[in-house]
Amino acid sequence: MRRVRLSFVPGLDVEFVDRDRAIEQVMDWADRGTRFPVVIYGPEGCGKSAFLRQAAAILRELGYDAIYVDVAHMDFIAHTDVTDVVKKLVNAVSEASGVAQLKLAILAIDVVRELLDRWGRRRVAVLVDEAFQAIGIDKASLYVKNLLNLIEYPPRSYERIVAIATTSEGLSRREIGRHRWGRLMMMWNMPREGFRQLYEALPGEKPPFEDVWRLTGGNPSALAMLYENNWRWDDAVRAFLEQRGLMFTIRSLTPTERAWLEEAVGDPDTLFDRERMDLLGKLVGMNLMIEVMGRYEFLWVDEPPPERNPELGIGRYIAWQTPLHREAVKLALSEAK
Ligand SMILES: Nc1ncnc2c1ncn2[C@@H]1O[C@H](COP(=O)(O)OP(=O)(O)O)[C@@H](O)[C@H]1O
Ligand SMILES: [Mg+2]
Repeated sequence: MRRVRLSFVPGLDVEFVDRDRAIEQVMDWADRGTRFPVVIYGPEGCGKSAFLRQAAAILRELGYDAIYVDVAHMDFIAHTDVTDVVKKLVNAVSEASGVAQLKLAILAIDVVRELLDRWGRRRVAVLVDEAFQAIGIDKASLYVKNLLNLIEYPPRSYERIVAIATTSEGLSRREIGRHRWGRLMMMWNMPREGFRQLYEALPGEKPPFEDVWRLTGGNPSALAMLYENNWRWDDAVRAFLEQRGLMFTIRSLTPTERAWLEEAVGDPDTLFDRERMDLLGKLVGMNLMIEVMGRYEFLWVDEPPPERNPELGIGRYIAWQTPLHREAVKLALSEAK
């Protein structure tokens, strides 16, 4: 199997590393098709897009026509030799109107339908990256329903369809969880040994791996940011605090809520409590924390996180997206005093 090359930071490409279980899962989906669209939810920067790009390449090798669209960045990869379809995608991503993203998300489904109907393809895959941000979280489940319609009511008979969508929007997880139209799964930051491979692929002087692991929790995008800013951890935390406007958030909290948030810095599960749910919802909405599903293997793409890991901010039910998110909140709390 070919491992794709991905842009890690401008000027540095790296090969897709590890995620061995996820790769097996793709092969399994390729074998049988997905009965329901798979919707993968996970922390920002954990590697969902990288995984979808790798998945598209695997599906191609397994005889699929595979269409990947990155809705947020208006980008696509078409593993197909149907030039008509490629042209449509090229046109869609060159459009600059306000609804261009929405159109691209819809087009992804349309061209796959066309591959079946007009071009007689028998194995097709549609991989949609971060569509819900663009089409609106309230419409996330409708979009998944459209993917399901493709599987259930195809324009003509087919052998297999694979449909996968990703989201890092905490609130879209609720919206999708309300319906039975998709199969919601989670993906976590990278497991330690896989993350070590990525760390080792980076040139130059680096802090010890243990430190980088503790600071990033295996989140490749946090690693990229640290690499780019020459491993200045304090600046990374500061930038996060300022750019996310955390002071505004913290100053809008009541004294009780602030105390709850402080507790959550120590143990995120303390927010999983009726009284504190509003605060939790706010933090999930800001993509600071994330609801974590039970560690049943069938619910996870690749390896699930540990049951609990206080050092990395992972609780049984709730987790900080990465230790960086937690550090920034901690700093903002101390400065708001
Ligand atoms: N398994 C991997 N191997 C190599 N690079 C990876 C891997 N997973 C993620 N990356 C890189 O880390 C960065 C963040 O990953 P990305 O897929 O964009 O995260 P997400 O889509 O979940 O926000 C990207 O530069 C991506 O190419
Ligand atoms: Mg992404």
